[in-house]
Amino acid sequence: THQWRGIIEEYRDRLPVSDTTPVVTLREGGTPLVPAQVLSERTGCEVHLKVEGANPTGSFKDRGMTMAISKAKEEGAKAVICASTGNTSASAAAYAVRAGMVSAVLVPQGKIALGKMGQALVHGAKILQVDGNFDDCLTLARGLSENYPVALVNSVNPVRIEGQKTAAFEIVDMLGDAPDIHVLPVGNAGNITAYWKGYTEYAADGVATRTPRMWGFQASGSAPIVRGEVVKDPSTIATAIRIGNPASWQYALAARDESGGFIDEVTDREILRAYRLLAAQEGVFVEPASAASVAGLLKAAEQGKVDPGQRIVCTVTGNGLKDPDWAVAGAPQPVTVPVDAATAAERLGLA
Ligand code: F0G
Repeated sequence: THQWRGIIEEYRDRLPVSDTTPVVTLREGGTPLVPAQVLSERTGCEVHLKVEGANPTGSFKDRGMTMAISKAKEEGAKAVICASTGNTSASAAAYAVRAGMVSAVLVPQGKIALGKMGQALVHGAKILQVDGNFDDCLTLARGLSENYPVALVNSVNPVRIEGQKTAAFEIVDMLGDAPDIHVLPVGNAGNITAYWKGYTEYAADGVATRTPRMWGFQASGSAPIVRGEVVKDPSTIATAIRIGNPASWQYALAARDESGGFIDEVTDREILRAYRLLAAQEGVFVEPASAASVAGLLKAAEQGKVDPGQRIVCTVTGNGLKDPDWAVAGAPQPVTVPVDAATAAERLGLA
């Protein structure tokens, strides 16, 4: 009876819904804000992880999707469509099931993690693998939504941003005020836009006394905002953020500049190092793209950009189970033993 009700009910007065909006929810949000001991030691700061992989479909997309699908249902839509690097499609597929709608998803061929593909499949989405990248998928999805009876639920749909801004509310509600710095991975740039909106709304209403500096990190092979130009053939092992022409580019620049922050890049090597550190030293298993925020924080600390004593929140956007290949890759195969305590003890180094 005291379960978290989902972001629409928890933040109803701050979202564009009315009494007649059908609430389509899987009780998303209310995710853990976990103190990060090793990252705090390394930076001399108080670092927290906002663990968005704890959402119902395993990523932050659920916050936006409960809004997008609820509004689409309110408007009478029977079908929804999205372009996706995997997480948006998994979320859209699940929420469409709850709403009794058909979902169609466009994904870049061969470039989405198996767990995400499995989610879309098992939730019954109609999936097309596009011979192109995410940016091509988004162009196609926009065109289809303009010409056919299907609602677009990508973050170019402003109600997605409204839902996703609630993560910033939760952080302020938990900490009592905004942090000094908020760090995020950046792909299509919807999430950094959403957090900035949430933080500025809370500050404007006096719920927070200030806003954080927004630090965003793109993967080096997919860093159009850092380069200042579209990347035609984006590449990175962090497939979730393999995006060359972010839809919310201008909003990301606004978040960066209005907050006094910056947007930088991290290499795949740095991403994987942070990915392993999070799992092996903080006990938090995320997907590679999510580790870009932490990789960025560590890079900034090494560059002397992190003054000690600050309160920092890193969003880790998706669950490690989405893309377990990276956990297994390079790790030693577990040894096989007979059903024998002495042998097992010996192999475990206990004897
Ligand atoms: N982290 C993960 C795990 C993501 O799935 C995404 C985006 C991002 C970070 C970047 O967020 O796009 O708002 O800047 N995934 C989208 C998708 C593109 O289709 O699932 P962003």
